[in-house]
Amino acid sequence: MKDPQPQRRPENCAFVIFGASGDLTHRLVIPSLYNLAAEKLLPEKFCVVGAARKSMSNEGLRDSLMKGLRQFATRPVDDDVAQQLLQCVTFVEADPKDPPSFDELRKHLDALECSRGTGGNRLFYLATPPAAFAPTARELGRTGLLKEDNGAWRRLVVEKPFGTDLASAKALNAELLKIMEEHQIYRIDHYLGKETVQNILVLRFANGMFEPIWNRNHIDHIQITVEERLGVGHRGGFYDATGALRDMVPNHLFQLMSLVAMEPPTRFDAHSVRSEKADVLSAIQQPSEAEALHSSVRAQYLAGRIGDDEIQDYRKTADVKPGSTTETYVALKLMIDNWRWAGVPFYLRTGKALAHKRTEVAIKFKQAPLAMFSGTTIERLSQNFLTIGIAPTETIELQFNAKIPGPSVTIDGVEMKFRYGDYFRADPSTGYETLIYDCMIGDNILFQRADGVEAGWQAVQPFLDAWKKAGPNGIETYPAGSDGPACADELLRRDGRSWRKFT
Ligand code: BG6
Repeated sequence: MKDPQPQRRPENCAFVIFGASGDLTHRLVIPSLYNLAAEKLLPEKFCVVGAARKSMSNEGLRDSLMKGLRQFATRPVDDDVAQQLLQCVTFVEADPKDPPSFDELRKHLDALECSRGTGGNRLFYLATPPAAFAPTARELGRTGLLKEDNGAWRRLVVEKPFGTDLASAKALNAELLKIMEEHQIYRIDHYLGKETVQNILVLRFANGMFEPIWNRNHIDHIQITVEERLGVGHRGGFYDATGALRDMVPNHLFQLMSLVAMEPPTRFDAHSVRSEKADVLSAIQQPSEAEALHSSVRAQYLAGRIGDDEIQDYRKTADVKPGSTTETYVALKLMIDNWRWAGVPFYLRTGKALAHKRTEVAIKFKQAPLAMFSGTTIERLSQNFLTIGIAPTETIELQFNAKIPGPSVTIDGVEMKFRYGDYFRADPSTGYETLIYDCMIGDNILFQRADGVEAGWQAVQPFLDAWKKAGPNGIETYPAGSDGPACADELLRRDGRSWRKFT
Protein backbone atom coordinates (compact mmCIF):
# COMPACT_ATOMS: atom_id res chain seq x y z
CA MET A 1 0.00 0.00 0.00
CA LYS A 2 1.36 3.41 -0.96
CA ASP A 3 1.22 6.62 1.09
CA PRO A 4 0.14 9.89 -0.52
CA GLN A 5 2.90 12.18 -1.84
CA PRO A 6 4.01 15.04 0.45
CA GLN A 7 2.65 18.45 -0.57
CA ARG A 8 3.84 22.00 -0.02
CA ARG A 9 2.12 24.44 2.33
CA PRO A 10 0.14 27.25 0.70
CA GLU A 11 1.23 30.88 1.04
CA ASN A 12 0.03 32.78 4.10
CA CYS A 13 -3.52 34.04 3.70
CA ALA A 14 -6.81 35.07 5.28
CA PHE A 15 -9.79 32.78 4.65
CA VAL A 16 -13.13 34.60 4.79
CA ILE A 17 -16.30 32.48 4.90
CA PHE A 18 -19.63 34.14 4.08
CA GLY A 19 -22.44 32.05 5.55
CA ALA A 20 -20.31 31.21 8.60
CA SER A 21 -23.30 30.15 10.69
CA GLY A 22 -24.66 27.88 7.95
CA ASP A 23 -24.77 24.18 7.28
CA LEU A 24 -22.09 24.05 4.58
CA THR A 25 -19.55 25.82 6.77
CA HIS A 26 -20.14 23.41 9.67
CA ARG A 27 -20.52 20.23 7.62
CA LEU A 28 -17.79 20.64 5.02
CA VAL A 29 -15.67 23.77 5.11
CA ILE A 30 -14.46 23.60 8.72
CA PRO A 31 -14.00 19.78 8.75
CA SER A 32 -11.93 20.17 5.57
CA LEU A 33 -9.82 22.96 7.09
CA TYR A 34 -9.37 20.72 10.13
CA ASN A 35 -8.14 17.83 7.94
CA LEU A 36 -5.74 20.17 6.15
CA ALA A 37 -4.52 21.46 9.54
CA ALA A 38 -3.98 17.88 10.76
CA GLU A 39 -1.84 17.22 7.68
CA LYS A 40 0.06 20.50 8.11
CA LEU A 41 -1.31 21.76 4.83
CA LEU A 42 -2.62 25.10 6.01
CA PRO A 43 -0.45 28.19 5.58
CA GLU A 44 1.99 28.90 8.43
CA LYS A 45 0.28 32.21 9.05
CA PHE A 46 -3.42 31.86 8.61
CA CYS A 47 -6.68 33.31 9.88
CA VAL A 48 -10.33 32.51 9.32
CA VAL A 49 -12.95 35.24 9.32
CA GLY A 50 -16.50 34.00 9.69
CA ALA A 51 -18.97 36.46 8.20
CA ALA A 52 -22.74 36.26 8.57
CA ARG A 53 -25.75 38.54 8.68
CA LYS A 54 -26.65 37.83 12.29
CA SER A 55 -24.26 39.06 14.90
CA MET A 56 -22.31 36.58 17.01
CA SER A 57 -19.30 36.74 19.31
CA ASN A 58 -15.95 35.20 18.36
CA GLU A 59 -16.47 32.67 21.15
CA GLY A 60 -20.03 31.90 20.01
CA LEU A 61 -18.83 31.14 16.50
CA ARG A 62 -15.89 29.03 17.71
CA ASP A 63 -18.17 26.96 19.97
CA SER A 64 -20.63 26.36 17.20
CA LEU A 65 -17.87 25.38 14.73
CA MET A 66 -16.37 23.02 17.31
CA LYS A 67 -19.75 21.32 17.77
CA GLY A 68 -20.04 20.99 14.00
CA LEU A 69 -16.54 19.57 13.79
CA ARG A 70 -17.32 16.92 16.42
CA GLN A 71 -20.39 15.95 14.45
CA PHE A 72 -19.01 16.03 10.91
CA ALA A 73 -15.26 15.31 11.22
CA THR A 74 -14.19 12.49 8.94
CA ARG A 75 -11.54 11.30 11.42
CA PRO A 76 -11.03 11.42 15.22
CA VAL A 77 -10.67 15.02 16.37
CA ASP A 78 -7.33 15.90 17.97
CA ASP A 79 -8.21 18.68 20.42
CA ASP A 80 -4.87 20.48 20.02
CA VAL A 81 -5.21 20.70 16.26
CA ALA A 82 -8.86 21.78 16.53
CA GLN A 83 -8.09 24.44 19.15
CA GLN A 84 -5.21 25.81 17.12
CA LEU A 85 -7.49 26.12 14.10
CA LEU A 86 -10.38 27.66 16.03
CA GLN A 87 -8.10 30.20 17.70
CA CYS A 88 -7.56 31.61 14.20
CA VAL A 89 -11.31 32.26 13.84
CA THR A 90 -12.95 35.65 14.35
CA PHE A 91 -16.46 36.81 13.55
CA VAL A 92 -17.60 39.81 11.50
CA GLU A 93 -21.17 40.84 10.78
CA ALA A 94 -21.53 41.37 7.04
CA ASP A 95 -24.70 41.82 5.06
CA PRO A 96 -24.62 42.94 1.41
CA LYS A 97 -27.82 44.88 2.10
CA ASP A 98 -25.87 46.92 4.63
CA PRO A 99 -22.85 48.29 2.69
CA PRO A 100 -21.11 49.85 5.74
CA SER A 101 -20.75 46.31 7.16
CA PHE A 102 -18.37 45.54 4.27
CA ASP A 103 -16.31 48.63 5.10
CA GLU A 104 -16.05 47.20 8.63
CA LEU A 105 -15.02 43.85 7.18
CA ARG A 106 -12.26 45.58 5.30
CA LYS A 107 -10.99 47.27 8.46
CA HIS A 108 -11.21 43.96 10.36
CA LEU A 109 -9.15 42.21 7.68
CA ASP A 110 -6.55 44.99 7.50
CA ALA A 111 -6.09 44.79 11.28
CA LEU A 112 -5.92 40.99 11.30
CA GLU A 113 -3.39 40.92 8.51
CA CYS A 114 -1.12 43.13 10.60
CA SER A 115 -1.55 41.23 13.85
CA ARG A 116 -1.42 37.73 12.34
CA GLY A 117 1.13 38.55 9.66
CA THR A 118 -0.88 36.80 6.96
CA GLY A 119 0.23 39.28 4.27
CA GLY A 120 -2.44 40.53 1.89
CA ASN A 121 -3.61 37.25 0.32
CA ARG A 122 -7.34 36.72 0.76
CA LEU A 123 -9.71 33.94 -0.12
CA PHE A 124 -13.43 34.70 0.06
CA TYR A 125 -15.64 31.62 0.26
CA LEU A 126 -19.32 32.11 -0.60
CA ALA A 127 -21.01 29.42 1.49
CA THR A 128 -24.28 31.34 1.23
CA PRO A 129 -27.59 30.77 -0.55
CA PRO A 130 -27.13 31.51 -4.27
CA ALA A 131 -29.19 34.70 -4.09
CA ALA A 132 -26.36 36.25 -2.07
CA PHE A 133 -23.54 35.39 -4.55
CA ALA A 134 -23.77 38.48 -6.77
CA PRO A 135 -24.65 41.02 -4.03
CA THR A 136 -21.75 39.79 -1.86
CA ALA A 137 -19.32 39.93 -4.78
CA ARG A 138 -20.54 43.43 -5.61
CA GLU A 139 -19.82 44.68 -2.09
CA LEU A 140 -16.41 42.99 -2.10
CA GLY A 141 -15.72 44.79 -5.36
CA ARG A 142 -16.96 48.14 -4.10
CA THR A 143 -14.76 48.04 -1.03
CA GLY A 144 -11.72 47.07 -3.10
CA LEU A 145 -11.36 43.78 -1.23
CA LEU A 146 -10.98 41.84 -4.49
CA LYS A 147 -8.34 44.11 -6.01
CA GLU A 148 -5.05 42.28 -6.48
CA ASP A 149 -2.17 44.65 -5.70
CA ASN A 150 1.37 44.57 -4.29
CA GLY A 151 1.69 40.94 -5.40
CA ALA A 152 -1.16 39.80 -3.13
CA TRP A 153 -3.84 37.51 -4.54
CA ARG A 154 -7.60 37.81 -4.00
CA ARG A 155 -9.82 34.82 -4.84
CA LEU A 156 -13.54 34.14 -4.70
CA VAL A 157 -14.96 30.63 -4.25
CA VAL A 158 -18.52 30.24 -5.53
CA GLU A 159 -20.59 27.23 -4.56
CA LYS A 160 -23.24 25.57 -6.67
CA PRO A 161 -25.90 26.08 -7.92
CA PHE A 162 -24.30 28.49 -10.37
CA GLY A 163 -27.49 29.83 -11.96
CA THR A 164 -30.76 28.03 -12.52
CA ASP A 165 -30.68 28.03 -16.32
CA LEU A 166 -28.54 29.28 -19.19
CA ALA A 167 -29.69 32.91 -18.94
CA SER A 168 -29.14 33.20 -15.18
CA ALA A 169 -25.73 31.46 -15.35
CA LYS A 170 -24.64 33.88 -18.08
CA ALA A 171 -25.93 36.83 -16.05
CA LEU A 172 -24.04 35.68 -12.94
CA ASN A 173 -20.83 35.15 -14.90
CA ALA A 174 -21.18 38.59 -16.47
CA GLU A 175 -21.79 40.16 -13.07
CA LEU A 176 -18.75 38.49 -11.48
CA LEU A 177 -16.52 39.30 -14.43
CA LYS A 178 -17.39 42.97 -14.11
CA ILE A 179 -15.90 42.88 -10.62
CA MET A 180 -12.89 40.60 -11.02
CA GLU A 181 -10.83 38.58 -13.49
CA GLU A 182 -11.68 35.00 -14.46
CA HIS A 183 -8.50 33.69 -12.80
CA GLN A 184 -9.78 34.96 -9.43
CA ILE A 185 -13.05 32.97 -9.60
CA TYR A 186 -13.16 29.40 -8.29
CA ARG A 187 -16.52 27.80 -9.17
CA ILE A 188 -16.72 24.69 -7.05
CA ASP A 189 -18.17 21.37 -8.08
CA HIS A 190 -17.45 18.93 -5.28
CA TYR A 191 -17.35 16.01 -7.74
CA LEU A 192 -13.98 17.29 -8.89
CA GLY A 193 -12.64 16.78 -5.36
CA LYS A 194 -13.28 13.05 -5.62
CA GLU A 195 -10.15 11.02 -6.29
CA THR A 196 -11.73 8.59 -8.75
CA VAL A 197 -13.22 11.44 -10.74
CA GLN A 198 -9.76 12.98 -11.10
CA ASN A 199 -8.45 9.55 -11.95
CA ILE A 200 -10.57 9.38 -15.11
CA LEU A 201 -8.01 11.65 -16.80
CA VAL A 202 -5.10 9.54 -15.59
CA LEU A 203 -6.77 6.31 -16.63
CA ARG A 204 -7.38 7.65 -20.12
CA PHE A 205 -4.21 9.58 -20.78
CA ALA A 206 -1.48 7.91 -18.70
CA ASN A 207 -2.12 4.47 -20.18
CA GLY A 208 -1.43 3.46 -23.75
CA MET A 209 -4.14 0.86 -24.11
CA PHE A 210 -7.41 2.72 -23.58
CA GLU A 211 -7.19 5.82 -25.76
CA PRO A 212 -6.85 4.01 -29.13
CA ILE A 213 -10.20 2.31 -28.53
CA TRP A 214 -11.89 5.28 -26.80
CA ASN A 215 -14.14 6.27 -29.68
CA ARG A 216 -17.15 5.43 -31.82
CA ASN A 217 -15.30 2.59 -33.58
CA HIS A 218 -15.11 0.54 -30.39
CA ILE A 219 -17.53 2.00 -27.89
CA ASP A 220 -21.20 1.16 -28.18
CA HIS A 221 -22.49 3.62 -25.59
CA ILE A 222 -21.69 5.16 -22.20
CA GLN A 223 -23.82 5.14 -19.04
CA ILE A 224 -23.40 7.65 -16.25
CA THR A 225 -25.28 6.81 -13.07
CA VAL A 226 -25.64 8.76 -9.83
CA GLU A 227 -28.14 6.95 -7.63
CA GLU A 228 -28.84 8.04 -4.08
CA ARG A 229 -30.66 6.26 -1.28
CA LEU A 230 -31.44 9.46 0.59
CA GLY A 231 -34.68 11.26 -0.11
CA VAL A 232 -34.98 15.02 -0.16
CA GLY A 233 -35.02 15.19 3.66
CA HIS A 234 -35.02 18.70 5.12
CA ARG A 235 -34.11 20.38 1.80
CA GLY A 236 -37.70 20.40 0.47
CA GLY A 237 -37.82 24.15 -0.22
CA PHE A 238 -34.58 24.23 -2.20
CA TYR A 239 -35.20 20.94 -3.96
CA ASP A 240 -38.75 21.64 -5.03
CA ALA A 241 -37.59 24.78 -6.83
CA THR A 242 -34.66 22.92 -8.35
CA GLY A 243 -35.34 19.26 -9.23
CA ALA A 244 -32.98 16.46 -10.14
CA LEU A 245 -31.99 17.83 -13.55
CA ARG A 246 -30.78 21.24 -12.32
CA ASP A 247 -29.39 19.86 -9.06
CA MET A 248 -27.19 17.18 -10.59
CA VAL A 249 -26.87 17.15 -14.38
CA PRO A 250 -25.25 20.39 -15.66
CA ASN A 251 -22.75 20.16 -12.83
CA HIS A 252 -21.90 16.73 -11.35
CA LEU A 253 -22.97 14.43 -14.18
CA PHE A 254 -21.46 16.73 -16.79
CA GLN A 255 -18.16 16.79 -14.92
CA LEU A 256 -18.07 13.01 -15.28
CA MET A 257 -19.23 13.17 -18.88
CA SER A 258 -16.73 15.80 -19.93
CA LEU A 259 -13.79 13.97 -18.37
CA VAL A 260 -14.80 10.77 -20.12
CA ALA A 261 -15.54 12.39 -23.47
CA MET A 262 -13.05 15.27 -23.82
CA GLU A 263 -10.17 15.28 -26.29
CA PRO A 264 -6.66 14.87 -24.84
CA PRO A 265 -5.52 18.27 -23.54
CA THR A 266 -2.20 19.50 -24.91
CA ARG A 267 -0.88 19.99 -21.39
CA PHE A 268 -2.02 19.04 -17.91
CA ASP A 269 -2.77 22.62 -17.00
CA ALA A 270 -5.94 24.52 -16.13
CA HIS A 271 -6.21 26.29 -19.48
CA SER A 272 -5.89 23.18 -21.65
CA VAL A 273 -8.00 20.88 -19.49
CA ARG A 274 -10.82 23.37 -19.00
CA SER A 275 -10.86 24.29 -22.68
CA GLU A 276 -11.26 20.66 -23.73
CA LYS A 277 -13.98 20.07 -21.16
CA ALA A 278 -15.97 23.10 -22.27
CA ASP A 279 -15.45 22.11 -25.89
CA VAL A 280 -16.96 18.67 -25.54
CA LEU A 281 -19.94 19.96 -23.54
CA SER A 282 -20.64 22.54 -26.20
CA ALA A 283 -20.73 19.72 -28.77
CA ILE A 284 -23.72 18.06 -27.06
CA GLN A 285 -26.53 17.94 -29.62
CA GLN A 286 -29.36 20.41 -29.02
CA PRO A 287 -32.60 18.42 -29.41
CA SER A 288 -35.85 19.88 -30.75
CA GLU A 289 -38.73 20.04 -28.29
CA ALA A 290 -40.15 16.72 -29.49
CA GLU A 291 -36.72 15.08 -29.39
CA ALA A 292 -36.08 16.42 -25.90
CA LEU A 293 -39.30 14.84 -24.63
CA HIS A 294 -38.54 11.59 -26.42
CA SER A 295 -34.98 11.32 -25.09
CA SER A 296 -35.66 12.21 -21.46
CA VAL A 297 -37.61 10.78 -18.57
CA ARG A 298 -38.53 12.47 -15.32
CA ALA A 299 -40.17 10.94 -12.29
CA GLN A 300 -41.02 11.55 -8.67
CA TYR A 301 -40.77 9.11 -5.79
CA LEU A 302 -43.77 7.76 -3.94
CA ALA A 303 -43.80 6.29 -0.44
CA GLY A 304 -41.68 3.20 0.08
CA ARG A 305 -39.12 1.56 2.31
CA ILE A 306 -35.33 1.91 2.11
CA GLY A 307 -33.63 -0.48 4.50
CA ASP A 308 -35.27 0.15 7.87
CA ASP A 309 -36.63 3.56 6.91
CA GLU A 310 -40.15 4.28 5.80
CA ILE A 311 -40.05 7.06 3.21
CA GLN A 312 -43.11 9.19 2.56
CA ASP A 313 -44.25 10.49 -0.82
CA TYR A 314 -41.98 13.23 -2.14
CA ARG A 315 -45.02 15.53 -2.27
CA LYS A 316 -45.52 15.13 1.48
CA THR A 317 -42.00 16.37 2.29
CA ALA A 318 -41.89 19.58 4.35
CA ASP A 319 -41.77 22.68 2.13
CA VAL A 320 -42.69 20.74 -1.02
CA LYS A 321 -45.85 21.93 -2.80
CA PRO A 322 -48.63 19.33 -2.48
CA GLY A 323 -49.17 19.15 -6.25
CA SER A 324 -45.49 19.55 -7.12
CA THR A 325 -44.30 18.34 -10.52
CA THR A 326 -40.63 18.61 -9.62
CA GLU A 327 -38.67 15.54 -10.69
CA THR A 328 -36.62 13.56 -8.18
CA TYR A 329 -35.33 11.29 -10.94
CA VAL A 330 -34.10 12.10 -14.41
CA ALA A 331 -32.65 10.04 -17.24
CA LEU A 332 -31.40 11.51 -20.51
CA LYS A 333 -30.02 10.25 -23.77
CA LEU A 334 -27.46 12.71 -25.12
CA MET A 335 -25.42 12.66 -28.31
CA ILE A 336 -22.13 14.44 -28.86
CA ASP A 337 -21.68 15.91 -32.31
CA ASN A 338 -18.00 15.41 -32.93
CA TRP A 339 -15.69 13.07 -34.80
CA ARG A 340 -14.93 10.85 -31.82
CA TRP A 341 -18.47 10.32 -30.53
CA ALA A 342 -20.81 10.62 -33.53
CA GLY A 343 -23.51 7.96 -33.11
CA VAL A 344 -22.50 6.94 -29.54
CA PRO A 345 -25.29 7.61 -27.04
CA PHE A 346 -24.50 8.86 -23.56
CA TYR A 347 -27.22 7.73 -21.15
CA LEU A 348 -27.32 9.69 -17.92
CA ARG A 349 -29.51 8.95 -14.90
CA THR A 350 -29.75 10.28 -11.39
CA GLY A 351 -32.36 10.07 -8.68
CA LYS A 352 -33.16 10.16 -5.01
CA ALA A 353 -34.71 7.58 -2.67
CA LEU A 354 -33.47 4.62 -4.71
CA ALA A 355 -32.48 1.15 -3.60
CA HIS A 356 -28.72 1.78 -3.73
CA LYS A 357 -26.13 4.46 -3.40
CA ARG A 358 -24.12 4.19 -6.59
CA THR A 359 -22.06 6.61 -8.69
CA GLU A 360 -20.35 5.17 -11.74
CA VAL A 361 -19.38 5.65 -15.34
CA ALA A 362 -19.81 2.50 -17.39
CA ILE A 363 -18.30 2.27 -20.87
CA LYS A 364 -19.89 -0.44 -22.96
CA PHE A 365 -17.69 -1.73 -25.77
CA LYS A 366 -19.07 -3.08 -29.00
CA GLN A 367 -19.98 -6.74 -28.98
CA ALA A 368 -17.49 -9.21 -30.51
CA PRO A 369 -18.94 -11.14 -33.47
CA LEU A 370 -20.49 -14.42 -32.41
CA ALA A 371 -19.71 -16.07 -35.78
CA MET A 372 -16.70 -18.04 -34.59
CA PHE A 373 -18.82 -19.83 -31.99
CA SER A 374 -21.60 -20.73 -34.42
CA GLY A 375 -20.91 -24.48 -34.26
CA THR A 376 -21.05 -24.48 -30.45
CA THR A 377 -23.79 -24.23 -27.85
CA ILE A 378 -22.84 -20.60 -27.16
CA GLU A 379 -25.74 -18.37 -28.08
CA ARG A 380 -24.64 -15.08 -26.62
CA LEU A 381 -21.63 -13.35 -25.14
CA SER A 382 -21.90 -11.22 -22.05
CA GLN A 383 -21.24 -7.52 -22.36
CA ASN A 384 -17.83 -5.86 -22.17
CA PHE A 385 -18.08 -3.00 -19.70
CA LEU A 386 -15.25 -0.89 -18.33
CA THR A 387 -16.69 0.71 -15.21
CA ILE A 388 -15.25 3.51 -13.16
CA GLY A 389 -16.87 3.25 -9.72
CA ILE A 390 -16.95 6.42 -7.63
CA ALA A 391 -19.39 5.39 -4.87
CA PRO A 392 -19.98 3.41 -2.72
CA THR A 393 -16.46 2.10 -3.42
CA GLU A 394 -13.77 3.58 -5.61
CA THR A 395 -12.99 0.99 -8.25
CA ILE A 396 -12.11 0.32 -11.85
CA GLU A 397 -13.68 -2.81 -13.16
CA LEU A 398 -13.43 -4.68 -16.47
CA GLN A 399 -16.04 -7.23 -17.47
CA PHE A 400 -15.04 -9.72 -20.13
CA ASN A 401 -15.82 -13.23 -21.33
CA ALA A 402 -13.84 -16.25 -20.15
CA LYS A 403 -14.03 -19.96 -20.83
CA ILE A 404 -15.61 -21.98 -18.07
CA PRO A 405 -13.10 -24.75 -17.19
CA GLY A 406 -14.09 -28.12 -18.61
CA PRO A 407 -14.00 -30.21 -21.79
CA SER A 408 -16.67 -28.28 -23.70
CA VAL A 409 -16.48 -24.65 -24.80
CA THR A 410 -18.77 -22.68 -22.56
CA ILE A 411 -18.33 -19.03 -21.75
CA ASP A 412 -19.21 -16.83 -18.84
CA GLY A 413 -18.84 -13.13 -18.06
CA VAL A 414 -16.14 -12.49 -15.41
CA GLU A 415 -14.64 -9.35 -13.92
CA MET A 416 -11.29 -7.86 -12.96
CA LYS A 417 -11.63 -5.29 -10.21
CA PHE A 418 -9.14 -2.70 -8.95
CA ARG A 419 -10.10 -1.19 -5.59
CA TYR A 420 -8.45 2.08 -4.70
CA GLY A 421 -8.43 1.28 -1.00
CA ASP A 422 -6.41 -1.92 -1.62
CA TYR A 423 -3.51 0.01 -3.19
CA PHE A 424 -3.39 3.46 -1.70
CA ARG A 425 -3.63 4.64 1.86
CA ALA A 426 -5.84 7.70 2.25
CA ASP A 427 -7.37 9.11 5.40
CA PRO A 428 -11.12 9.58 5.13
CA SER A 429 -11.84 13.06 3.83
CA THR A 430 -14.76 15.32 2.94
CA GLY A 431 -13.58 15.63 -0.67
CA TYR A 432 -13.30 19.41 -0.21
CA GLU A 433 -9.74 19.38 1.11
CA THR A 434 -8.18 19.11 -2.34
CA LEU A 435 -10.40 21.88 -3.65
CA ILE A 436 -9.71 24.27 -0.77
CA TYR A 437 -6.00 23.47 -0.88
CA ASP A 438 -5.87 24.02 -4.66
CA CYS A 439 -7.63 27.31 -4.24
CA MET A 440 -5.04 28.43 -1.70
CA ILE A 441 -2.15 27.47 -3.98
CA GLY A 442 -3.86 29.08 -6.97
CA ASP A 443 -4.40 25.94 -9.06
CA ASN A 444 -7.79 26.18 -10.74
CA ILE A 445 -7.64 23.03 -12.86
CA LEU A 446 -10.38 21.43 -10.73
CA PHE A 447 -12.69 24.44 -10.87
CA GLN A 448 -15.16 25.35 -13.54
CA ARG A 449 -14.51 28.18 -15.96
CA ALA A 450 -17.33 30.46 -17.13
CA ASP A 451 -17.55 28.84 -20.58
CA GLY A 452 -17.75 25.34 -19.06
CA VAL A 453 -20.63 26.30 -16.78
CA GLU A 454 -22.49 27.95 -19.64
CA ALA A 455 -21.92 25.00 -21.98
CA GLY A 456 -23.44 22.74 -19.31
CA TRP A 457 -26.56 24.86 -18.98
CA GLN A 458 -26.84 25.19 -22.73
CA ALA A 459 -26.98 21.41 -23.06
CA VAL A 460 -29.80 20.99 -20.52
CA GLN A 461 -31.80 24.06 -21.54
CA PRO A 462 -33.81 22.25 -24.28
CA PHE A 463 -34.98 19.72 -21.67
CA LEU A 464 -35.90 22.43 -19.17
CA ASP A 465 -37.87 24.25 -21.87
CA ALA A 466 -39.62 21.16 -23.18
CA TRP A 467 -40.62 20.02 -19.69
CA LYS A 468 -41.87 23.46 -18.78
CA LYS A 469 -44.13 23.42 -21.82
CA ALA A 470 -45.31 19.88 -21.16
CA GLY A 471 -46.19 20.74 -17.53
CA PRO A 472 -47.28 17.73 -15.51
CA ASN A 473 -47.66 15.59 -18.66
CA GLY A 474 -44.93 13.02 -18.77
CA ILE A 475 -43.91 12.98 -15.14
CA GLU A 476 -43.82 9.37 -13.94
CA THR A 477 -43.53 7.90 -10.46
CA TYR A 478 -41.46 5.20 -8.73
CA PRO A 479 -41.64 3.73 -5.25
CA ALA A 480 -38.93 4.85 -2.84
CA GLY A 481 -36.43 2.01 -2.41
CA SER A 482 -36.84 0.78 -6.01
CA ASP A 483 -34.39 0.94 -8.92
CA GLY A 484 -36.23 3.90 -10.42
CA PRO A 485 -39.11 4.35 -12.87
CA ALA A 486 -39.89 1.81 -15.60
CA CYS A 487 -39.70 4.56 -18.23
CA ALA A 488 -35.94 4.87 -17.56
CA ASP A 489 -35.51 1.22 -18.59
CA GLU A 490 -37.67 1.86 -21.62
CA LEU A 491 -35.37 4.73 -22.72
CA LEU A 492 -32.60 2.17 -23.31
CA ARG A 493 -34.78 -0.81 -24.23
CA ARG A 494 -36.05 0.91 -27.36
CA ASP A 495 -32.40 1.28 -28.47
CA GLY A 496 -31.86 -2.46 -27.78
CA ARG A 497 -29.83 -1.69 -24.65
CA SER A 498 -30.18 -1.95 -20.88
CA TRP A 499 -28.74 -0.26 -17.80
CA ARG A 500 -25.85 -1.97 -16.06
CA LYS A 501 -27.15 -3.80 -13.01
CA PHE A 502 -25.95 -2.86 -9.52
CA THR A 503 -23.28 -5.37 -8.45
C1 BG6 B 1 -25.27 17.94 -4.21
C2 BG6 B 1 -26.75 17.94 -4.46
O1 BG6 B 1 -24.65 18.89 -5.02
O2 BG6 B 1 -24.75 16.65 -4.49
C3 BG6 B 1 -27.43 16.90 -3.57
O3 BG6 B 1 -27.30 19.23 -4.19
C4 BG6 B 1 -26.80 15.55 -3.77
O4 BG6 B 1 -28.82 16.84 -3.83
C5 BG6 B 1 -25.28 15.61 -3.66
O5 BG6 B 1 -27.31 14.68 -2.79
C6 BG6 B 1 -24.66 14.29 -4.11
O6 BG6 B 1 -23.31 14.29 -3.81
P1 BG6 B 1 -22.53 12.92 -3.57
O7 BG6 B 1 -21.11 13.34 -3.38
O8 BG6 B 1 -23.15 12.29 -2.36
O9 BG6 B 1 -22.75 12.09 -4.79
